[in-house]
This record gives sequence, C-alpha cells and structure tokens, in this order.
Amino acid sequence: MTKYIGILTSGGDTPGLNAAIRGVGKAALNTYDMQIIGFRDGFRGLMENRIVRLDSEALSGILTIGGTILGTSRDKPHKMPIGNKMMDMTDVMMDTYHKHHLDALVCLGGGGTQKNALRLVEKGMNIITLPKTIDNDVAMTDITFGFDTALSIATDAIDRLHSTAHSHHRIIVVEVMGHNTGWLTLAAGIAGGADVVLIPEIPYSVEKVAQSITERKQSGKHFSIVAISEGAMSGKMAKKLRDTEAKLEKAKDKAEKKKYRKKLAEIERERAVSTHTLTRQLEELTGLESRVTILGHVQRGGIPTPADRMLATRLGTACARALNDGEFGVMMSVHGSDVVTVPLTEVAGKRKNVPVDHPWVMTARDLGINLGD
Ligand code: F6P
Repeated sequence: MTKYIGILTSGGDTPGLNAAIRGVGKAALNTYDMQIIGFRDGFRGLMENRIVRLDSEALSGILTIGGTILGTSRDKPHKMPIGNKMMDMTDVMMDTYHKHHLDALVCLGGGGTQKNALRLVEKGMNIITLPKTIDNDVAMTDITFGFDTALSIATDAIDRLHSTAHSHHRIIVVEVMGHNTGWLTLAAGIAGGADVVLIPEIPYSVEKVAQSITERKQSGKHFSIVAISEGAMSGKMAKKLRDTEAKLEKAKDKAEKKKYRKKLAEIERERAVSTHTLTRQLEELTGLESRVTILGHVQRGGIPTPADRMLATRLGTACARALNDGEFGVMMSVHGSDVVTVPLTEVAGKRKNVPVDHPWVMTARDLGINLGD
C-alpha cells in the first residue's frame, strides 16, 4: 500500500539539504512506492499547510544546489510567533498531518529541530529526523552534513588570510561559526595552519595568546593567524557567565531574578563583540597591527562538497528504508562507517561538545598551536 510522507527543513540552512531531500525522495519514490510532499519554511509551513509536491521532476537537478528548495525557518511548534503572541501550534500541525493522510514526517535539522520533532512525536506523529548543521554539534552522531562544506570554506578563508597577514606583518583574527561548539574552528584551524585556535570548550587567556604571538615574533615570524569560534570566551568571561547563571538559578524573588537576567544580557553584549575586543587587546600586547575577519554566513552558502553530498544522500536513502520499515521517533545517525537509527529521546536537548582530550585537540597541541590555555 502506498505510504504518504511529508518532509521539511528547519533551523539554519546547510549545504547538502537538497541532496538529503533528493536522497529520501528518490529512494521513497523509486524503491518503496511512497508519495512525498514538502512543507515550506520548516514548522511554519506545516502549521500553515503550505505544501510543494515532491515528484521525480521536482527532485531532479537539486543535488548540487546550496540552501534548501523548501525554505526554512527557526520557528518552534510550541512557541510560534502569531501576531504579537507566542502560541503553541502543535495541534494545528497535527491537523495538517492528518489532513494529508501522512504516514510519517521527515524533519531535517540541527539540535533545535531534534527537540521540536520530539515534541510532535509525543503528540502522536510518526517522525524520522536527519542531522544537519555546519556546527557538527548534534548528539549521538559522529558527523552532520553541512560540516564538511563549511570546513572547506573556512579553511579556504584561512589559507587566503595567510598571504595578506604575512605581507603586512599583521595578526589576523578570523571568527568562525559553530554556535557554542568549536568543531568547525578547530578543524579549519588545523587544516588551515592557524597559529592560535580558540574554541568555547577551552576558555582562553588573552595574555597567553599574546605571549605565544610575541614568541613567534621573536623567532622571526611577524604575522599570526588566530582562528576563534563565535562562541569562544576568555576565562574571565566564562567565569562571570557561570557565576551569574548560578546566582540566577538560586535567586529567590522577582527583583533578584531581574538583576541577574540584566547581568546576563550585559555579558551577552560583551560576548557579541569579544572577537573585536580580543583583536584590540592583542594589538596592544604584541605591538603587531591587527585586523578582524568575520566569516559569518558565507560558511553556509553555496554548493555542498562531494563528502556532504555523499553523506546527505546516504542518510536520506537510509531514512527512506526506515520509513518503509515503520521505524519512527528516531534520528538517522552516522556511527563509524554505518548509518544507524538512534531514539530521538537520546538526542533531543543534548549537545555534542568538543571533548578537551579529543584527538583533534591533541593534534593541535602536538603541532604547537596555541589553544589559549
Ligand atoms: O547553527 C548554524 C549556525 O550557522 C551557527 O553556526 C550560527 O551560530 C547560527 O547558525 C547563525 O544563525 P542565523 O542564521 O539565524 O543568524
């Protein structure tokens, strides 16, 4: 009997999303006699019943296209901005699901999407998710698609920054995405030959970074490349954040809570400009002219690398197989050389940080890369 499947992409876009949609869709259509519809703009399209039919024509020619043909959003089913209110729209989404007689929904997304998908599973939806994000921070999978493409873009940027830093005898501080984890910065820093790599998992000391750059200068190297994660923090800031969060947790009355929330907002503002602050401090401490490059969303754009196309396609086709087997409430995950399913309950609400003794960290240390600690 024909099965009816919905699919959506949610959260920040990632190269490889279209390859994954194509992988699920082609296998579903060709091998398993399924019909597929896509929902536009993530969970918002599911709520608003905005669909696109994914027949073989729609799935053709999308393998190499960046972004997502379905559109995406960061909307959450249980906290949807409607007018000027936040509303729980999970029941409306259930209605859309039933209206199309869906047997299952496939959600392609990062950490937030896994949590949102689990909420709908708890309402009774049959869901399978795929792990995508350039951050590589989804729990219970070795890797996410999008990471490899972002890694090549960030590495290419570091390669290019080398020649200009070298010519001008400057420090160039390059900020890499990755949210609160350092996978992308660490890998791009190693692959691009950065001299300093700063990641959120290892709070840094500005003085120690400056000292390592000064030592390079004394050895005749009058330039340095500092790769820093957008979420990296100095030890001082990390402590301030931890202490304030602990105080907020213990705060008894409204006034006290308000005070610590205000303090957290201040720390967040400080953190938002911390790459610029670090660059200025390094210039002062080393006497080397310094510049900042923020890579930003360029890391998420353009065509996926062959490795990401391959990964997204493998996860997509394995997903169609799991749909056919009726295995729901799971995420497709990479474990060694296999694609396996893991329960969403074990993924949702967790984040895969870089362990401080991870082999990549050890590699960086062995190379003499300064990690700021
Ligand atoms: O999760 C992917 C990511 O690119 C993060 O690296 C970054 O912190 C965030 O999304 C940026 O989000 P937005 O596209 O909403 O600005």
